[in-house]
Formats: sequence, structure tokens, C-alpha cells
Amino acid sequence: MAASSPMALPAAMRSIFGARSNRVLLLAARDLQAGGGGGSCPRRWQSSLPQLDHTDRSDEESCGEIDWDNLGFGLTPTDYMYVMRSSPEDLGGFPRGELCRYGNIELSPSSGVLNYAQGLFEGMKAYRRPGRAGYTLFRPEENARRMQHGAERMCMPAPSVDQFVRAVKETVLANRRWVPPQGKGALYLRPLLMGSGPILGLAPAPEYTFLIYAAPVGNYFKEGLAPINLVVDDEFHRAMPGGTGGVKTIANYAPVLRAQLDAKSKGFTDVLYLDSVHKRYLEEVSSCNVFVVKGGVVATPATMGTILPGITRKSVIELARDRGYKVEERLVSIDDLIDADEVFCTGTAVVVAPVSTVTYKGQRHAFRTGSDTLAQELYTTLTSIQMGLTEDNKGWTVAVD
Ligand code: COI
Repeated sequence: MAASSPMALPAAMRSIFGARSNRVLLLAARDLQAGGGGGSCPRRWQSSLPQLDHTDRSDEESCGEIDWDNLGFGLTPTDYMYVMRSSPEDLGGFPRGELCRYGNIELSPSSGVLNYAQGLFEGMKAYRRPGRAGYTLFRPEENARRMQHGAERMCMPAPSVDQFVRAVKETVLANRRWVPPQGKGALYLRPLLMGSGPILGLAPAPEYTFLIYAAPVGNYFKEGLAPINLVVDDEFHRAMPGGTGGVKTIANYAPVLRAQLDAKSKGFTDVLYLDSVHKRYLEEVSSCNVFVVKGGVVATPATMGTILPGITRKSVIELARDRGYKVEERLVSIDDLIDADEVFCTGTAVVVAPVSTVTYKGQRHAFRTGSDTLAQELYTTLTSIQMGLTEDNKGWTVAVD
């Protein structure tokens, strides 16, 4: 009998699962049974995975334990994560993946990711659809392709677009009770790709792991949707020409922590980085892209290798053009910013965040914020599409049912 059949489960396990078996449950049960072989969670993850508890709750529509009105961008652990591995014999492919209970993972102390930062991540959001069952994802194939591009740069194999999107959908459905109610936030998905195999000399790791975990989130900045205050750092840089600023490697993020902490300790929301060569052109903020608006022209730094090609950035460029704005992707100087009417940031986590002030060399520059700004218009249009509140004429949303 097939391992995934409920009848193949031991009696004790069948009574634990009761009548509410669903696909997630079966997969997780099969993982427990198989002990890591035959298509279950890979053995090396198994020993540290939490055991199934007595009540699987992945069928529940909403989690009652959460204060949905006060979601920030903190980590609330959810029920399941998705794990898929590529070993040397898989020749760069990821033969199969599985849902596992969310929990700690085991890594070799000499894994490529721990020793040489051979790792990438993505950020995505799933929203609960209004008025009917199901959820929506926003342009998930773009995340898949960006991961593939980053993997090429970091010498890693990557899942196919189809594998990536299917894995994200499975992760959403398995954690459906953690998708916030309409208007309260989103289920944030964090796909990771890492060199999990052991390596001592500097070289690509022999084995790779793709993993997706999820957490319900609200607004990214503590300001909520209120305008943010940035400080320009002309000492620390986020990226350099020829480096990895243009891919979403984990190695781009720890280096900004020093400047970010200093900025926060002085009351700023975050840091705006300048280019490392001329110290004059805008790059991006620690966790998002930046735009400046002057009259009918919107400008944002071109993605020439040091700027992350944001999916929200790309979408906002299209939405601004639809509204008749001229959008320029080019070098944007600090003088352009100082002269701007409006400044805003974009990203999956931050969405569209209006910038109230930017402090540069001790001078505070203020910008227009409020209801009649382009940032507000873009925020409303974008989130209406993402949340399924308006018709998606762009074909950007993907249903998860
Ligand atoms: C996102 O916007 O999803 C990101 O990955 C940025 C992260 C630093 C929160």
C-alpha cells in the first residue's frame, strides 16, 4: 500500500489524526513514518523537527490566538515549512520537496551557508481574498526568476519556476490559519536557498537546501503607514560595482546592521545608502528601493548591479507610467533627492512607504506626504490589486485555493 494512504498509518497515528486527514497531514505523517527516506523530509532535517502535536489545525480558517490588530513585522512561528534538497547525484536538480513541521533545522558546522554565506532569500506575501475562500500571491514567478538569477551569481542550483511557485502555494495552504483577516496584514513567505552541504576550502557546497517558512505580518516600520525619516550614510556602503548588490543574497543584509542601528539610535527610521564610488548617487534603503518625484517625473536608481531589482519597484514603475508619469531609471543624485517634491520607498515588506524627511550631512530635508501624493495613490492601487479588492488587469495575482 502506498505510504501516503491513510490506511498505511499505524493505528496510534490514525487516532491522532482522526477524521480530519488532509493532504498536509498525510505528507507530515508520511514523513514521520518514513524516517527520512523515500521522499519524506530529508533525514538530516528529521531529527530536529518537532513532532506532530495531537491536533493538526491546518484546516482551520483562522488562528484564534493572535491579536490581528497589532501585527508588526515580528516572527510568529507557524505550523509548516517546505523543504527540498539537491544532492550531488541530483545533478543540479531538486527532485522532490515536502512540507514538514516548522522547527529548527540541522546544519553541518562546515556548511557553505554558515562559512561562506552561500545563501539567498526571497520575500513574498499571501493575502486572504475578500468575500470568498482562498488567497492571492503577487507575481510569484518574479521571485522564482530572481532566485534563479541570484543562484547563478552565487554558484547554486535553483528550483524551477514551477517548483518554486508550487512550493509557495503548498506553504500558504498548510499555514492557512495564519493568513491574517482581510485588511489586517498578510502571510509573509520567506523562501531560502542555501549551500547546506559541508565544505572547508572555499568552493561551492556539495548540497543545497531550498526552504520556505511563513509568518503573519503587519506593517514593516514601527511608524505603521506614517511617513518615515531617513538618514543618508556616506561612510558605510551597501554594495559595490561587480559585487552582489543586485541579487538577494543573505550577505547583503548583515553589513547594513551597523549603520541601521546607529541611525535608529538617533531616532531615524532607516538608512539611505549612496554609491560607493562617487558617494553621490542614491542606491537603496536597507530593506527597500527608493524613488524621487519632481513634477510629472519619477526617478529611481537604475538596476546596474548594485541595486536590488525589486518586484514592487518594477510594479510601481508600471503603475506610475499608467498614471501618465514619466518614469526614469537612471543615476539619481543626492541633489535630485534634495530638490524632489516627494520621496518614497518600495519593497515587499514595506510596500510603498512615504518619506517625510531625509537628513544628509546634518541637514534635514522635508518632502510632501499625505493623501494627495503619488506615494499614497500607488500604495492604494498596488495593495488593492494585491488584496484582491480591485480587478487585476495586469495578471499579477495568482490564486491559491
Ligand atoms: C522584503 O521586502 O521582503 C525583504 O526581503 C526585505 C527584508 C530585509 C525584510
